Amino acid sequence: MSAELAVQTQDLEMIYREMWRKPARALTGVSLEVERGVIFGLLGQNGAGKTTLVKLLLSLLRPTKGTARVLGHDPFDSRMRRRIGYLPEQMRLPEYMKATGFLHYMGELNGVDSATLKKRIPALLELVGLPGEKKLLSAYSKGMQQRLGLAQALLNEPDLLFLDEPTEGLDPLGRKQVRDLLVSLRAGGKTIFLNSHLLSEIELVCDRVVILNRGEVVRQGTPAEFAKHTGEYRIRVAEASDAVRAAVAGVVPGAQWEDNTVLVSPENRAQLNALIDRLRAVPVEIETIEPVHSTLEEYFIQVVTGAGA
Ligand SMILES: Nc1ncnc2c1ncn2[C@@H]1O[C@H](COP(=O)(O)OP(=O)(O)OP(=O)(O)O)[C@@H](O)[C@H]1O
Ligand SMILES: [Mg+2]
Repeated sequence: MSAELAVQTQDLEMIYREMWRKPARALTGVSLEVERGVIFGLLGQNGAGKTTLVKLLLSLLRPTKGTARVLGHDPFDSRMRRRIGYLPEQMRLPEYMKATGFLHYMGELNGVDSATLKKRIPALLELVGLPGEKKLLSAYSKGMQQRLGLAQALLNEPDLLFLDEPTEGLDPLGRKQVRDLLVSLRAGGKTIFLNSHLLSEIELVCDRVVILNRGEVVRQGTPAEFAKHTGEYRIRVAEASDAVRAAVAGVVPGAQWEDNTVLVSPENRAQLNALIDRLRAVPVEIETIEPVHSTLEEYFIQVVTGAGA
């Protein structure tokens, strides 16, 4: 196994065994690699096994089969723990504390010295959008809890950050702030392992994606590879006059107009070119022609419904 990789797993299997219960298989033969310095997205429906996989990588669980390496070490090797940050899913905060006290406590547990914490904590609170926050944690909204959880995960300036649904409970602006933060952390050389079922989030920030379905890796790739061309084109013209509409209808049937833009699905490239010629002959100015790509969401739904069948 390579020390150059941030995460590497080989044939990981996890079966939960609890007394009086039927064994529950959460992961089967999961092999994946995460390079350093990337934002990696683990995508899957509820119950797909995302949290289980992260817990195995953090040595919070022991796999029933297979091996894992995190920053080149066994997850149970304590040397690398200090180089890792973790935002758990639905993090519980102690209600009677305030942000600064809580971060001090967590930082000390993480082995960060007090003087460093004194400097780092106000900067982190600023970074996650909770500057000078004085409320008791019991009065925090869901989004504030999530922001504080993120600050907590960054206390030890980790090389590798595990975030389990980091934008859960955040409003659109908060999500954007978290995405920007992740991108700036990557620019600083950190590796981010992101669990999410929010496809738009993953599409916007991840360099690589693994799709997990019922505990198995079903697809790996980049968001761009997953977002394939649908065969449709969106053409924007300077003016959608009757003559222009008639010209389009004469070449490709079923065109849909919206203001000055038309969505067409030509049979082939020759038909698309014929359409362009007809428009130019009207005459009308063509402003843009764009191929339409399916979103990661459409791809994901195809994959999980197909793989589940
Ligand atoms: N402690 C446990 N005991 C028994 N089964 C468990 C336990 N934790 C998880 N599971 C089962 O393992 C499977 C994977 O769960 P996991 O929490 O890893 O999914 P997830 O992808 O993180 O889902 P979500 O998107 O809902 O967070 C599920 O079928 C779940 O019921
Ligand atoms: Mg989960």
